[in-house]
Amino acid sequence: MTDNRYLLRGEVLSFTDDPGEGDTPAPSSINHYLDGALFIENGCVKDIGHYQEVVKHAPANIQHVDYRGKLLMPGFIDPHIHYAQLDIMASYGRQLLDWLNEYTFPEECRFSQRAYADEVASAFLDQLIDAGTTTAQVFCTSHPNSVDAFFSASQRRGMRMLAGKVLMDRHGPEALLDPLGGGIIESERLIADWHDRDRLSYSLTPRFAPTSSREQLDATGGVLRNAPELYLQTHLSENAGEIAWVAELFPDCQDYLAVYEHFDLVGPRSTFAHGIHLDQNMRRRLAERGANIAFCPSSNLFLGSGLFDRLACRDAGLKISLASDIGAGTELSGLGSLKAAYQVGQLLGQPLTAWQGFYQLTLGNARALHLHHAIGHFAPGSEADLVVLDPAATPLLKRRTARTESLAERLFALMILGDERAVHATWINGQEYQG
Ligand code: GUN
Ligand code: ZN
Repeated sequence: MTDNRYLLRGEVLSFTDDPGEGDTPAPSSINHYLDGALFIENGCVKDIGHYQEVVKHAPANIQHVDYRGKLLMPGFIDPHIHYAQLDIMASYGRQLLDWLNEYTFPEECRFSQRAYADEVASAFLDQLIDAGTTTAQVFCTSHPNSVDAFFSASQRRGMRMLAGKVLMDRHGPEALLDPLGGGIIESERLIADWHDRDRLSYSLTPRFAPTSSREQLDATGGVLRNAPELYLQTHLSENAGEIAWVAELFPDCQDYLAVYEHFDLVGPRSTFAHGIHLDQNMRRRLAERGANIAFCPSSNLFLGSGLFDRLACRDAGLKISLASDIGAGTELSGLGSLKAAYQVGQLLGQPLTAWQGFYQLTLGNARALHLHHAIGHFAPGSEADLVVLDPAATPLLKRRTARTESLAERLFALMILGDERAVHATWINGQEYQG
């Protein structure tokens, strides 16, 4: 069988560790081969290195794929995204709570129909793959149908995906609300059907504190205590109006994070989207539990939510991930998220280096999701999800990258000028995805 074995030749870049915040990456934090190669077999990386070395150890009859002039990196990872909001991206002019009521909730109601969910799930995944993103942690809607549709479409594509049914039993349209206790029973069924099946994992998904009753949050914490291998995803401290509302709804809790702490939802596999308006005490509490904050820069700019202080989180020892948060986000592309993160950073006097940015999009996000044993970097045994970037994909990129003199400059040009057009190919589970 030669079908499942490939030798990909091109420039290869993969991080082995956090490169730090400086202009030069920390020593031994990157693997970079200008004329490099990846030997892939049965969905896994067998070897990575200089082309002349790798080719020596690869089987003679292996299929060669010539990507010279392109840059091969681990597939991008998006730790916070709502697939059901694909078609309400770019809905004009509101902040979080009005945006939810006017655009998001009405759209999510449509996912009670399985056929509708199937169609959007497929379109969403194809868009994600076009953007070079091979793994994401995904909000479905409160309809179990929407989760079955999403996991089925991911499974058909062989993707590593995390997702869950939104839990919400108050403060939304009736058609989205779980009946008393029903959301947990449905989540348990979905966990039994999907968690750890192929490359899929289940993420418990209480929407955010205002849309779950205490009973629902308490029951969610109970599920997590019994099954700590599950993930949890929710939202935290995104918007001033939201924070005031949480304070009204939970007057006994000292702050927003305390609500999630009270119900045992803060752990090493918990992702809190946004976390913009946190003080150092909250950041430290999150860090102590090993939780991660998903920085969603294009969404935060779009909804006018605020500027995420990335370095304050790092100082507190808090794990950060970088996400699109579609449909409030405006960039499906990880490159687009990097551009927005750079812009937010500039406004806070903490510009993001290309080293830190591409680390975050790959190994950093994999670590935040505890998936670095499998994805986010190239090493013998890692799963062969990868993106092939073309630094000359557009006339402008071609002109700009023609005059770059270092990899750092080329990466930076890609993160500022690049988008889906810079993605030449995406490989999933050891195969080029053909759509
Ligand atoms: N908070 C609660 N639900 C949502 C959502 O769907 N998107 C964003 N950005 N924030 C939320
Ligand atoms: Zn979100």
